[in-house]
Amino acid sequence: MPELAYLNGKIMPIAEAMVPAEDRGYNFGDAVYEYVASYNGKLFCLELHLDRLAHSMREMRFAPLSMETIRHAILDLFEKGQMARAGIYIQISRGVAPRNHAYPPTDTPLQFFMTVRPVHEKPPEVREKGAFAITVADLRWGRCDIKTVQLVANCMAKQQALEAGVFDAIFVSAQGVVREGTSSNLFIAKNGVLVTHPLNHQILPGITRQVIMDVCRDQGIEVQERFFYREELAAADEAFLTGTITEVLPLVRIDGQPVGDGVVGPLARRLQHGLLERIQ
Ligand code: PDD
Repeated sequence: MPELAYLNGKIMPIAEAMVPAEDRGYNFGDAVYEYVASYNGKLFCLELHLDRLAHSMREMRFAPLSMETIRHAILDLFEKGQMARAGIYIQISRGVAPRNHAYPPTDTPLQFFMTVRPVHEKPPEVREKGAFAITVADLRWGRCDIKTVQLVANCMAKQQALEAGVFDAIFVSAQGVVREGTSSNLFIAKNGVLVTHPLNHQILPGITRQVIMDVCRDQGIEVQERFFYREELAAADEAFLTGTITEVLPLVRIDGQPVGDGVVGPLARRLQHGLLERIQ
């Protein structure tokens, strides 16, 4: 099971992948990324991840790079990695150029980097018993729908959560609107109805979020995509995070207060199974 890197068409051991110091991803965070995982030797929702990558690249006005080229490179790296349960990290930057805020000439080649590694699974008891979280101020920029590598605010929030002894942090706007986790989307449930933040510039359009909404449609579970506030979060019967690797992760305590009864609720349990069925 070799852990490998891909850099601009070449595959090598990760330690050998070197990016020039004037990469705009390094200087400015001027790069986009995706993270795709496989189950039983098959990449889950690859096409949806490619669509979102295309959205990120378009919104950043990157030079065009065909999705066919990207798909081919991902599948090649995945095959060479030979892992049934792999995580592929994909990062594309605007390229290498002398540091200057203005974009470099449009013929500057994009820098295309990937790694393939085995997935570090979350401990099963976290999924079984649920996790704790805190809420934090959303200090991120105004285009969270673009999956850029500018993740310092996310890293700060995650670290704050870990230092508070909990699993994750939930971003809440200055007006009290509940957004999402540091690397996941958030759903709450009240009286059997799910609520999640609508797709706009303030959250990432999560692939798992989309799959869960699909499962809900199939199972007749109502989902409202609308703003909800801190008070509604505090009064929820259930809350759970969704994401690649995170899958469906129930939250049983937020800011020191139990969510509902303080145990994993029936909707989270049902959707954990619903997602597993989709994966299989
Ligand atoms: N993060 N919201 C944010 C801010 C995220 O970073 C992610 C994913 C999600 C969930 O998206 P998806 O269901 O497509 O994984 C929501 C990835 C996994 C990461 O940063 O590694």
